Amino acid sequence: MFKVDRKTAQLIVLQRIELISPLLKKLRKIFGRSIFTNYVSRYLINSKDIGNNYFQIMSKEFNSIKNSISGDDKTILSIGGGVGGLEVIINNHFNDMKFYFIEKNYISKKVVYNWDMTNKEAYNDLKLQEEFLINNGLKNFSIYDYDKNHLPDNKFDIIISLFSLDYHYDFYLYLDFLKNACNIKTKVIFDTIRPDHFTKIFNEVVVLKTFDNTVHKSKRLLCTGLKI
Ligand SMILES: C[S@@+](CC[C@H](N)C(=O)[O-])C[C@H]1O[C@@H](n2cnc3c(N)ncnc32)[C@H](O)[C@@H]1O
Repeated sequence: MFKVDRKTAQLIVLQRIELISPLLKKLRKIFGRSIFTNYVSRYLINSKDIGNNYFQIMSKEFNSIKNSISGDDKTILSIGGGVGGLEVIINNHFNDMKFYFIEKNYISKKVVYNWDMTNKEAYNDLKLQEEFLINNGLKNFSIYDYDKNHLPDNKFDIIISLFSLDYHYDFYLYLDFLKNACNIKTKVIFDTIRPDHFTKIFNEVVVLKTFDNTVHKSKRLLCTGLKI
Protein backbone atom coordinates (compact mmCIF):
# COMPACT_ATOMS: atom_id res chain seq x y z
CA MET A 1 0.00 0.00 0.00
CA PHE A 2 1.02 3.63 -0.35
CA LYS A 3 1.79 5.95 2.55
CA VAL A 4 -0.69 8.76 2.15
CA ASP A 5 -1.53 11.62 4.52
CA ARG A 6 -4.96 13.26 4.70
CA LYS A 7 -4.20 16.16 2.36
CA THR A 8 -2.71 13.91 -0.29
CA ALA A 9 -5.66 11.51 0.02
CA GLN A 10 -7.98 14.46 -0.67
CA LEU A 11 -5.98 15.18 -3.82
CA ILE A 12 -5.83 11.58 -5.01
CA VAL A 13 -9.62 11.21 -4.93
CA LEU A 14 -9.84 14.04 -7.46
CA GLN A 15 -7.39 12.30 -9.77
CA ARG A 16 -8.99 8.88 -9.35
CA ILE A 17 -12.70 9.45 -8.90
CA GLU A 18 -13.38 5.69 -8.63
CA LEU A 19 -11.87 5.90 -5.13
CA ILE A 20 -14.95 7.62 -3.71
CA SER A 21 -18.53 6.52 -3.18
CA PRO A 22 -21.42 7.64 -5.45
CA LEU A 23 -22.58 9.98 -2.66
CA LEU A 24 -19.19 11.71 -2.50
CA LYS A 25 -19.15 11.96 -6.30
CA LYS A 26 -22.46 13.81 -6.12
CA LEU A 27 -21.12 16.16 -3.44
CA ARG A 28 -18.06 16.87 -5.58
CA LYS A 29 -20.31 17.77 -8.50
CA ILE A 30 -22.45 20.05 -6.30
CA PHE A 31 -19.61 21.85 -4.49
CA GLY A 32 -16.96 21.84 -7.23
CA ARG A 33 -13.44 20.55 -6.80
CA SER A 34 -11.97 23.24 -4.52
CA ILE A 35 -14.68 23.33 -1.85
CA PHE A 36 -15.04 19.55 -2.03
CA THR A 37 -11.32 19.10 -1.45
CA ASN A 38 -10.81 21.76 1.20
CA TYR A 39 -13.95 21.28 3.27
CA VAL A 40 -16.18 18.34 2.33
CA SER A 41 -13.89 15.40 1.64
CA ARG A 42 -11.56 16.05 4.61
CA TYR A 43 -14.18 14.68 7.01
CA LEU A 44 -15.48 11.91 4.78
CA ILE A 45 -12.47 9.98 3.54
CA ASN A 46 -10.02 7.72 5.32
CA SER A 47 -6.43 8.26 4.16
CA LYS A 48 -5.36 4.70 5.03
CA ASP A 49 -8.13 3.25 2.85
CA ILE A 50 -7.27 5.67 0.04
CA GLY A 51 -3.57 4.66 0.27
CA ASN A 52 -4.58 1.01 0.05
CA ASN A 53 -7.10 1.34 -2.74
CA TYR A 54 -4.95 3.74 -4.79
CA PHE A 55 -2.15 1.16 -4.61
CA GLN A 56 -4.52 -1.56 -5.90
CA ILE A 57 -5.68 0.62 -8.80
CA MET A 58 -2.15 1.62 -9.77
CA SER A 59 -0.98 -2.01 -9.56
CA LYS A 60 -3.70 -2.88 -12.06
CA GLU A 61 -2.60 -0.02 -14.32
CA PHE A 62 0.99 -1.23 -14.04
CA ASN A 63 -0.10 -4.70 -15.18
CA SER A 64 -1.65 -3.16 -18.30
CA ILE A 65 1.65 -1.59 -19.38
CA LYS A 66 4.42 -3.66 -17.78
CA ASN A 67 5.11 -5.75 -20.90
CA SER A 68 5.86 -2.52 -22.77
CA ILE A 69 8.63 -1.57 -20.34
CA SER A 70 12.09 -3.11 -20.48
CA GLY A 71 15.16 -2.94 -18.26
CA ASP A 72 16.86 -0.82 -20.96
CA ASP A 73 14.35 1.97 -20.47
CA LYS A 74 16.00 4.47 -18.17
CA THR A 75 14.26 7.80 -18.70
CA ILE A 76 10.53 7.89 -18.03
CA LEU A 77 8.35 10.94 -18.50
CA SER A 78 4.92 11.12 -16.96
CA ILE A 79 2.50 13.70 -18.39
CA GLY A 80 -0.37 14.34 -15.96
CA GLY A 81 0.64 11.48 -13.68
CA GLY A 82 -1.27 12.83 -10.70
CA VAL A 83 0.72 12.27 -7.50
CA GLY A 84 2.65 9.48 -9.24
CA GLY A 85 1.53 6.15 -7.74
CA LEU A 86 2.10 4.33 -11.04
CA GLU A 87 5.66 5.63 -11.28
CA VAL A 88 6.39 4.48 -7.70
CA ILE A 89 5.30 0.97 -8.71
CA ILE A 90 7.37 1.07 -11.93
CA ASN A 91 10.35 2.13 -9.82
CA ASN A 92 9.77 -0.86 -7.51
CA HIS A 93 10.03 -3.25 -10.48
CA PHE A 94 12.94 -1.78 -12.46
CA ASN A 95 16.42 -0.47 -11.65
CA ASP A 96 18.16 2.85 -12.23
CA MET A 97 15.33 4.74 -13.81
CA LYS A 98 15.10 8.52 -13.79
CA PHE A 99 11.55 9.87 -13.61
CA TYR A 100 10.32 13.19 -14.96
CA PHE A 101 6.86 14.56 -14.29
CA ILE A 102 5.00 17.33 -16.08
CA GLU A 103 1.91 18.34 -14.12
CA LYS A 104 -0.15 21.36 -13.13
CA ASN A 105 0.03 23.00 -9.75
CA TYR A 106 -3.57 23.93 -8.91
CA ILE A 107 -7.04 22.56 -8.37
CA SER A 108 -9.58 24.00 -10.79
CA LYS A 109 -12.92 24.92 -9.26
CA LYS A 110 -15.41 23.44 -11.69
CA VAL A 111 -15.83 19.80 -12.58
CA VAL A 112 -15.86 19.68 -16.38
CA TYR A 113 -16.58 16.26 -17.82
CA ASN A 114 -15.97 17.03 -21.46
CA TRP A 115 -12.88 17.73 -23.51
CA ASP A 116 -11.09 20.73 -21.97
CA MET A 117 -10.23 22.80 -25.06
CA THR A 118 -8.52 25.52 -23.05
CA ASN A 119 -6.80 22.99 -20.77
CA LYS A 120 -7.66 24.88 -17.58
CA GLU A 121 -8.71 21.71 -15.75
CA ALA A 122 -6.16 20.49 -13.23
CA TYR A 123 -6.06 18.83 -9.87
CA ASN A 124 -2.62 18.55 -8.42
CA ASP A 125 -0.33 20.14 -5.86
CA LEU A 126 3.31 19.74 -6.76
CA LYS A 127 4.54 20.07 -3.16
CA LEU A 128 2.22 17.24 -2.08
CA GLN A 129 3.26 15.23 -5.13
CA GLU A 130 6.93 15.62 -4.18
CA GLU A 131 6.20 14.51 -0.60
CA PHE A 132 4.17 11.52 -1.83
CA LEU A 133 6.99 10.36 -4.12
CA ILE A 134 9.67 10.69 -1.43
CA ASN A 135 7.51 9.03 1.26
CA ASN A 136 6.91 6.11 -1.08
CA GLY A 137 10.55 5.55 -1.99
CA LEU A 138 11.07 7.37 -5.29
CA LYS A 139 14.41 9.18 -5.23
CA ASN A 140 15.50 10.00 -8.74
CA PHE A 141 12.89 12.40 -10.09
CA SER A 142 12.20 15.95 -11.28
CA ILE A 143 8.82 17.66 -11.37
CA TYR A 144 7.99 20.35 -13.93
CA ASP A 145 5.08 22.75 -13.62
CA TYR A 146 3.46 22.85 -17.08
CA ASP A 147 2.41 26.49 -16.63
CA LYS A 148 5.66 27.85 -15.21
CA ASN A 149 8.79 25.85 -15.98
CA HIS A 150 10.78 25.26 -19.11
CA LEU A 151 9.82 21.71 -19.89
CA PRO A 152 12.62 19.10 -19.95
CA ASP A 153 14.53 19.14 -23.23
CA ASN A 154 16.01 15.62 -23.24
CA LYS A 155 14.81 12.51 -25.10
CA PHE A 156 12.82 9.86 -23.21
CA ASP A 157 12.65 6.08 -23.45
CA ILE A 158 9.02 6.03 -22.34
CA ILE A 159 6.34 8.70 -22.06
CA ILE A 160 3.24 7.73 -20.08
CA SER A 161 0.01 9.66 -19.77
CA LEU A 162 -2.92 7.76 -18.29
CA PHE A 163 -6.29 9.53 -18.54
CA SER A 164 -4.66 12.88 -19.25
CA LEU A 165 -3.12 13.63 -22.70
CA ASP A 166 -5.79 13.24 -25.40
CA TYR A 167 -8.27 12.16 -22.74
CA HIS A 168 -8.90 15.46 -20.97
CA TYR A 169 -7.12 17.77 -23.43
CA ASP A 170 -5.89 17.72 -27.00
CA PHE A 171 -2.81 15.67 -27.93
CA TYR A 172 -1.71 18.56 -30.19
CA LEU A 173 -1.08 20.73 -27.15
CA TYR A 174 2.04 18.62 -26.63
CA LEU A 175 2.97 17.95 -30.27
CA ASP A 176 5.93 20.36 -30.47
CA PHE A 177 7.20 19.18 -27.12
CA LEU A 178 6.90 15.52 -28.20
CA LYS A 179 8.78 16.16 -31.45
CA ASN A 180 11.75 17.13 -29.32
CA ALA A 181 11.23 14.56 -26.54
CA CYS A 182 10.90 11.45 -28.75
CA ASN A 183 13.49 9.52 -30.69
CA ILE A 184 12.50 6.75 -33.11
CA LYS A 185 12.31 4.22 -30.30
CA THR A 186 10.44 6.28 -27.69
CA LYS A 187 7.31 4.48 -26.48
CA VAL A 188 4.36 6.80 -25.91
CA ILE A 189 1.53 5.29 -23.85
CA PHE A 190 -1.75 7.18 -23.43
CA ASP A 191 -5.55 6.82 -23.33
CA THR A 192 -7.70 8.18 -26.14
CA ILE A 193 -11.18 7.91 -27.61
CA ARG A 194 -9.88 8.35 -31.18
CA PRO A 195 -7.31 5.54 -31.55
CA ASP A 196 -7.54 5.43 -35.36
CA HIS A 197 -6.41 9.03 -35.59
CA PHE A 198 -2.99 8.09 -34.25
CA THR A 199 -2.06 5.82 -37.16
CA LYS A 200 -1.54 9.10 -39.05
CA ILE A 201 0.77 10.41 -36.37
CA PHE A 202 2.87 7.38 -35.37
CA ASN A 203 4.49 4.62 -37.44
CA GLU A 204 3.33 1.95 -35.03
CA VAL A 205 0.20 1.90 -32.89
CA VAL A 206 -0.67 -1.01 -30.60
CA VAL A 207 -3.83 -1.18 -28.46
CA LEU A 208 -2.83 -2.23 -24.95
CA LYS A 209 -6.25 -2.06 -23.36
CA THR A 210 -9.87 -1.35 -24.29
CA PHE A 211 -12.26 0.29 -21.84
CA ASP A 212 -15.60 -0.94 -23.19
CA ASN A 213 -17.58 -0.55 -19.97
CA THR A 214 -16.86 3.14 -19.38
CA VAL A 215 -18.70 6.22 -20.66
CA HIS A 216 -15.73 7.30 -22.79
CA LYS A 217 -14.98 3.86 -24.29
CA SER A 218 -11.33 4.82 -24.59
CA LYS A 219 -8.38 2.74 -25.63
CA ARG A 220 -4.88 2.66 -24.17
CA LEU A 221 -2.31 2.95 -26.96
CA LEU A 222 1.37 2.21 -27.20
CA CYS A 223 2.77 4.34 -30.03
CA THR A 224 6.27 4.57 -31.52
CA GLY A 225 7.82 6.51 -34.36
CA LEU A 226 6.28 9.98 -34.30
CA LYS A 227 6.09 10.84 -38.00
CA ILE A 228 4.66 14.35 -38.29
C1 LIG B 1 -7.62 12.19 -14.45
S1 LIG B 1 -6.10 12.72 -13.76
C2 LIG B 1 -5.13 11.27 -14.04
C3 LIG B 1 -3.94 11.18 -13.12
C4 LIG B 1 -3.08 9.94 -13.31
N1 LIG B 1 -2.54 9.86 -14.65
C5 LIG B 1 -3.82 8.68 -12.98
O1 LIG B 1 -4.03 7.86 -13.89
O2 LIG B 1 -4.18 8.51 -11.81
C6 LIG B 1 -5.48 13.89 -14.98
C7 LIG B 1 -4.22 14.64 -14.54
O3 LIG B 1 -3.78 15.47 -15.63
C8 LIG B 1 -3.28 16.68 -15.06
N2 LIG B 1 -3.18 17.70 -16.14
C9 LIG B 1 -4.15 18.51 -16.66
N3 LIG B 1 -3.65 19.26 -17.66
C10 LIG B 1 -2.34 18.92 -17.79
C11 LIG B 1 -1.27 19.33 -18.67
N4 LIG B 1 -1.44 20.25 -19.63
N5 LIG B 1 -0.06 18.76 -18.52
C12 LIG B 1 0.16 17.82 -17.56
N6 LIG B 1 -0.81 17.40 -16.70
C13 LIG B 1 -2.04 17.93 -16.83
C14 LIG B 1 -4.25 16.99 -13.92
O4 LIG B 1 -3.71 17.89 -12.96
C15 LIG B 1 -4.46 15.57 -13.34
O5 LIG B 1 -3.53 15.24 -12.34
